[in-house]
Amino acid sequence: MGRALEGRVAVVTGGASGIGRATAERFAQEGADVVVGDIAPADETVALVEKAGRSALYVRTDTTDEQQCDALVAAAVERFGRVDVGVASAGVASAAGRSNVQNRAAGEQSTHLVNLDAEAFGRVLDINVTGVMLTDRALARQMLAQGTGGSIVNIASSAAKIPLAGAAPYCVSKAGVFMLTKVLALELAATGVRVNAVGPGYTATPMIAGIEDDATALGMAMSITPMNRLGRPEEIAASCLFLASDESSFTTGQLLLPAGGQFTG
Ligand SMILES: NC(=O)c1ccc[n+]([C@@H]2O[C@H](COP(=O)([O-])OP(=O)(O)OC[C@H]3O[C@@H](n4cnc5c(N)ncnc54)[C@H](O)[C@@H]3O)[C@@H](O)[C@H]2O)c1
Repeated sequence: MGRALEGRVAVVTGGASGIGRATAERFAQEGADVVVGDIAPADETVALVEKAGRSALYVRTDTTDEQQCDALVAAAVERFGRVDVGVASAGVASAAGRSNVQNRAAGEQSTHLVNLDAEAFGRVLDINVTGVMLTDRALARQMLAQGTGGSIVNIASSAAKIPLAGAAPYCVSKAGVFMLTKVLALELAATGVRVNAVGPGYTATPMIAGIEDDATALGMAMSITPMNRLGRPEEIAASCLFLASDESSFTTGQLLLPAGGQFTG
């Protein structure tokens, strides 16, 4: 059997780090050329894609800026001629950048809604929801123009389904990504462009850096994770691969939850 993404062109936002980087690497191993959009430099990701024998292009992109999202897709088309797959992984845990589980474990009430300022709330929604919307729109327009279908994968979170005290902006944003995925999937269902989401559980990336050394925070995370371990970014990338590839050709508008057994109850 050939590789799952042989000869395809993928755009990955948030591809400089964590889940986005692991996804870019896996896609390259499966035969795709990869365009990485991120506000941070992505030299390491570019090197991983090239090591896998495929071509990579980094385009500095702030996904909250619609022109930059459009330019990201335009750069992919200019370099590789088309876009077949898009993964929207750019995201933040909180406006302050600190992980939600560590805030909660520290017993801090500062991120509870009654203490939250509107700006901090809006900033997370801007990056996690509007950024995904702008990314998806640019991808979908290109895929529709090509007329040969495509697959868009949005990175939501298991927090799309679980209310976590102290994490209102994040939970609301990820529920928003889930619903955005469903609406866009519905609108595009007859066009051959599929849109799905991946909702990871706690995954060892820079977003939750330090959690392994924070017994209280790790304990809170593991208390809702029956497998009793953090996920690896490669395990989330595998879910992205399934949804990006033809293996999921009859699947659209779905949230796949690689989350270590969350939601078994
Ligand atoms: N790590 C987890 O436990 C976990 C769990 C569930 C969901 N997620 C989601 O997975 C996605 C990837 O997170 P990660 O864990 O790999 O974290 P990460 O911090 O390692 O990677 C996030 C990347 O997004 C980029 N980014 C942030 N804001 C951006 C913007 N405005 N424009 C462009 N790029 C931007 C960052 O520069 C970074 O490279 C996020 O959407 C996150 O919410 C992570």
